[in-house]
Amino acid sequence: MKYLLGYDIGSSSVKVTLLAAETGKALATAMSPKKEMEIEVAFPNWAEQRPERWWQEAINATHQLKESYGFDTSLVAGIGITYQMHGLVLIDKAGKVLRPAIIWCDSRAVGLGNQAFTQLGEEFCLTNFLNSPGNFTASKLKWVKDNEPELFAQIYKIQLPGDFIAFKMTGNLQTTISGLSEGVFWNFKQQAVAQDLLDYYGISNELLPEVVDTFSVQGELTAEAAQELGLHAGTPISYRAGDQPNNAFSLNVLQPGEIAATAGTSGVVYGINETATADSKSRVNTFVHVNNTAEAPRNGVLLCVNGTGILNSWLRKLVGEMPYDQMNELAAQAPVGAEGLVFLPFGNGAERVLENQLTDASLSGINFNIHSQAHVLRAAQEGIVYALNYGMDIMRESGVQVQKVRAGNANMFLSPLFREAFVNSGNVELELYNTDAAQGAARGAGVGAGVYASPAEAFVGLERMLTLAPTPELQEKYQAAYARWKDVLTQTVLDPATQKQTDSKLTLA
Ligand code: XUL
Repeated sequence: MKYLLGYDIGSSSVKVTLLAAETGKALATAMSPKKEMEIEVAFPNWAEQRPERWWQEAINATHQLKESYGFDTSLVAGIGITYQMHGLVLIDKAGKVLRPAIIWCDSRAVGLGNQAFTQLGEEFCLTNFLNSPGNFTASKLKWVKDNEPELFAQIYKIQLPGDFIAFKMTGNLQTTISGLSEGVFWNFKQQAVAQDLLDYYGISNELLPEVVDTFSVQGELTAEAAQELGLHAGTPISYRAGDQPNNAFSLNVLQPGEIAATAGTSGVVYGINETATADSKSRVNTFVHVNNTAEAPRNGVLLCVNGTGILNSWLRKLVGEMPYDQMNELAAQAPVGAEGLVFLPFGNGAERVLENQLTDASLSGINFNIHSQAHVLRAAQEGIVYALNYGMDIMRESGVQVQKVRAGNANMFLSPLFREAFVNSGNVELELYNTDAAQGAARGAGVGAGVYASPAEAFVGLERMLTLAPTPELQEKYQAAYARWKDVLTQTVLDPATQKQTDSKLTLA
């Protein structure tokens, strides 16, 4: 018997899953904290979390897992880590965390990234980095350099959130090429660190950690970490990936044409490309996928909507902590289109899909004599779907085929209404699988530790639970509601000047 452990370091909780390597079945899972973790907002549009808290929650979740299911920890053949992407963790020479992490939805660096995009040249950035430096990790680091110079001077290495958890486990300061790309520290054309951007920002490449392969033994659990987690010292850490590439991996989305989606705190649609492509407005982004090699390049084209499950969890607090399945049932009582109520879900930092505009969420079209709690809950779920649709349309305009989408049976995809709105307004077929991020990380660990000879073997036990296709009658209703939603977006948020240049193209680097 061999076990694999997968950790998912999310924005709202840390989840750990124990997988039986031979059958690929999840034996037990635990999540901590029980209520969504806070995001600290010291100033408007900032978003910070304490890396030590993620570590503490990983410890708590592991202990809960062990209490719920007894297993021999010496039989764990590999640990995999997946994590909220693009965050910045700063480590000093003594291995101490220097400040709270500036996380993915923190928007303080938008201006710096925009300036870099213009000054380095849009064409140059898009052909070399496949992205604007935007609000990604490199720009966040530049913000620290400009605004906290004394602290910046103490940085020994930077880490992405998952790199930090691996560091706590192994004592090794490392990252991956996929990780460098998610921070816009990677030059796709040169297949090397993005030195031009570092030079422009005045940041030494010495601050970047050692690079390891995504699927590889990257270190072993130290005695101290083993004691804290209640696991076995020497257990290999054999996989790490950002939550979106990992979600794609967990669904066996590895080849061009395959599409994965998630709808957790943020929502993402992620397609695989073998060519180096970029959206001219950087509204969808390209990062290195987990199975990329020099011989067979694999990039992930990623569309992200920051305000996805976070809107639903915000509403849940307003409706007295009603369980999510009850919210879903209530929402389904209102008709498609919520009788004219329109929810724009963008209340969680700069939205890349809107060219990094900072816009709040909004609810419009309210009629006190018509609309009830059910309408508001439905409008929120539909609004999230329509925001994803809006991004999928950009992906399509850019040449990515979005037809059949795979997702794990988790988060917003647990809602029948959400699924129905997704397929019918987006004109896609949806396949739901019995997996999630933590299971994906466990399977990845199996590949990295050599338990599975290839990624293909790692998908033993992965089963399709549901296939949903659009129907003409529902398509008509949802597409009419989507059109109304888009009108509200256009009238209230999209800059009319930007509207004139709708001819975004994927440029070949
Ligand atoms: C993806 C993104 C978010 C975070 C959330 O580009 O920013 O999905 O990874 O965890």
